[in-house]
Amino acid sequence: MNKIILTLTAVMILSFAACAQNKGEKSMLTENKPLVVYFSATGTTAKAARTIAEVTGGTLYEIVPQQVYTPDDLDWNDRKSRSSVEMNNPQARPALKDMKLDIAAYDVIFIGYPIWWNQAPRIINSFIESHDLKGKTLVPFATSGGSGITGSVKDLKRAYPDLKWQDGKLLNGASRNTVQNWVNNMFPYIPKKLAMN
Ligand SMILES: Cc1cc2nc3c(=O)[nH]c(=O)nc-3n(C[C@H](O)[C@H](O)[C@H](O)COP(=O)(O)O)c2cc1C
Repeated sequence: MNKIILTLTAVMILSFAACAQNKGEKSMLTENKPLVVYFSATGTTAKAARTIAEVTGGTLYEIVPQQVYTPDDLDWNDRKSRSSVEMNNPQARPALKDMKLDIAAYDVIFIGYPIWWNQAPRIINSFIESHDLKGKTLVPFATSGGSGITGSVKDLKRAYPDLKWQDGKLLNGASRNTVQNWVNNMFPYIPKKLAMN
């Protein structure tokens, strides 16, 4: 008898805990759809961003440089190429093309970029510093030729310690399923809401 009472109590405690956790996720996210912001010089990160927007129902927003990057600009073998010069200068802030974005409407913002020299391209700093991201949940994602995302996220956390960063994920060749599972684990509430639509 005692065993049964103990088991029932344990089950009740676990259910309450699960409930409280779900409530926490919900209040953290509110009811708003996420924003999926990305910079992509050659289209790979753009594809990952589209998949995230698809599975979350989020709004896509491309970070567009005022001056687009030419293939020469992207030549990492040339120390004088634009990307090399920018990445060698932590203070570089490439200008953004002026585009409308109502950032206040979003609580969760995915931020995507290609890994450049193991870091986020400086235009990501331009974007972060041009918008009020305080209090928002920021979820980095990236594509690369093989490098991980960890170094770039560490740099972003160090540069903007007051912002609320998640660890993020490298999405090289990620299938829709992989993205869906990642989002599900992070924010169980988003896909549930979409499933009801
Ligand atoms: C200037 C530059 C630097 C790069 N540095 C790295 C790097 O450090 N590690 C890596 O794995 N890939 C590196 N790459 C490859 C890109 O991260 C990769 O091709 C990425 O998927 C491109 O994304 P995009 O098509 O969205 O621009 C670099 C590419 C460029 C243009």
